[in-house]
Amino acid sequence: MCGIVGYIGDREASSICFSGLRRLEYRGYDSAGIAVVTGKGLTTRKVVGNLNNMETSLDEAPLPGPLGIGHTRWATHGKPSIENSHPHLSQNNKIAVVHNGILDNYQELRKSLTAEGYAFRSQTDTEVVAHLVEKYYKGDLRAAVCEAVRQLHGAFAIGCICADSPDEMIAVRRFSPLVVGIGDGENYIASDMGAIRAETDRVYVIDDDEICKITRDGVEITDLDCNPVEREPYVIPWPADAAQKGGYKKFMHKEIHEQPDAMRACMAGRLNSVDDPIHFENIGLTVDEIKGFEKVIFTACGTAMHAGLVGRFLMDKLARIPTEGDLAAELQVRDPVIPKNTLCVVVSQSGETADTLEALRAMKRKGAKVVSVINVVDSSIARESDGVAYIQAGPEISVASTKAYSMQVLTIELLCLYFAEVRGSCPPDEIRKLKAALLKLPKQAEEVLTREPDVIEVAKKYYEKPNALYLARGVNLPSAMEGALKLKEISYIHAEAYSAGEMKHGPIALVEPNMFVTAIACEGPTYDEMVGNIMEIKARSGPVIAVSYDGDEKIPQTGVDPGGDPTDITSQPNDMIWVPRTEELTSPLIIAIPLQLLAYHIADLRGEDIDQPRNLAKTVTVK
Ligand code: M6R
Repeated sequence: MCGIVGYIGDREASSICFSGLRRLEYRGYDSAGIAVVTGKGLTTRKVVGNLNNMETSLDEAPLPGPLGIGHTRWATHGKPSIENSHPHLSQNNKIAVVHNGILDNYQELRKSLTAEGYAFRSQTDTEVVAHLVEKYYKGDLRAAVCEAVRQLHGAFAIGCICADSPDEMIAVRRFSPLVVGIGDGENYIASDMGAIRAETDRVYVIDDDEICKITRDGVEITDLDCNPVEREPYVIPWPADAAQKGGYKKFMHKEIHEQPDAMRACMAGRLNSVDDPIHFENIGLTVDEIKGFEKVIFTACGTAMHAGLVGRFLMDKLARIPTEGDLAAELQVRDPVIPKNTLCVVVSQSGETADTLEALRAMKRKGAKVVSVINVVDSSIARESDGVAYIQAGPEISVASTKAYSMQVLTIELLCLYFAEVRGSCPPDEIRKLKAALLKLPKQAEEVLTREPDVIEVAKKYYEKPNALYLARGVNLPSAMEGALKLKEISYIHAEAYSAGEMKHGPIALVEPNMFVTAIACEGPTYDEMVGNIMEIKARSGPVIAVSYDGDEKIPQTGVDPGGDPTDITSQPNDMIWVPRTEELTSPLIIAIPLQLLAYHIADLRGEDIDQPRNLAKTVTVK
């Protein structure tokens, strides 16, 4: 969604802001703007659509000046247009404001400012901030911003500059992320560390209701009552080029290939050997609490929910705790009974998803303990949780989540095994088997990635089909759901996932040669039923792609009519995606990878914009 970058120093602020905005493109946006202060006053430049338009505009007419703020906007209040794009200006055109978040009371503020004579130029909620700052500005920009934000209800990260204060930039937040980057004789603000990682690896992570005065030579952080706040710099742990494509055509492709290393990072220190107990630091739970939990609820949105659904299965099975899984938006509506001793596990890559954050707060109000499974360190969800299990996936840029999904599943697997060990709820041999399977995973993931050419051949066969069905049972039903979501997000092929047990209750009516069915049919407790389902699909002329363990001799020929017309699908062997054998409960981790590759290559063959799929934003910070 929206992104913010700001700079003060001796270099050209507009080009630093522009590069930062480029790195925020993945979040999704539909317009962009930059404002700079020079000795002569304030100048803005705005474009609708792609940042290439901004690049062309800056090439044709550079925007010089050592102080500037930039913004990418994902429309919520008012359509994408020049008027609605940020930065928004005060009435006297001396103050510029960029804002992420949503102001709940902007209509009341707009009405009263209009009555006071302020003329609005946009439909946005943000414009009220620019006018409020002008109203309160008496030569001290920080004091004016402070006074303005006291009037605001809702979520915001705000950057503000003023033509009459050319040596400072003000930034403030409540519920929307904000960091201040620390340079040498220059400083930055950003809504996301990735935007400024190429410039610095040291940032201050700003808390709610903290305001920062940023000059070339320093950063002062205070609360809204001007009490100084002491903050240690946070050192960004990933290298400057982590958010680059590194030779891959698309971020999604790179991130799929990063999974073996991410698995190693995710397990490091938590699972060292089959004989060591699992370690989890900072999850904010005592042994007694873990032993005493009587109910667990997983909640999240989208892909993160699919990881949560794997967790629902594993927590029940391994830790023997009754476990539910609810989409974050639904959890608030369902208003479930939360008995004493309930744990809520919140899953989110960004840690900023609005529905997930709301669900977390609702669960806390009801007295649940909250542990979150998060990628982005110090994000809002991480901060509001009782404990955090970081997934250690590194920056994920592609809108379609891949490595974050796998690392969410892996972290949840480790968490469930940890609970099982603490509670003594699972036979030690079973735990050892699962630990051994997890330790083998990075190598197996590498092996799966070497088989990418086979997946490309399958993709070539099906990329023009209009519909797809993904079928699985048990612990891999979420794998089917995730496979279908990946395909629809980036290829725009209509894809549905069903429990194969539901086939005969409706979806089988859709089976025909133009709908391909991806069936997860790995040997295990649901194998025979999956074989039956594949036969039913083939008998109705449905093409089947099967995901099976290496060496399976049955699935390629399942449902094939050897005596039929060789040009007919029913007589042709099933298309196979082979994966190395693992345990049933660890299989979602290995099955995810070829399904991600399949979606990727189908979308690539269709020529889609894989890293920035239409209508989608990486981080959904509005409900
Ligand atoms: O940042 P989060 O994990 O909370 O995001 C949740 C969903 O918005 C996200 O997983 C979404 O479904 C992705 N586009 C999936 O690829």
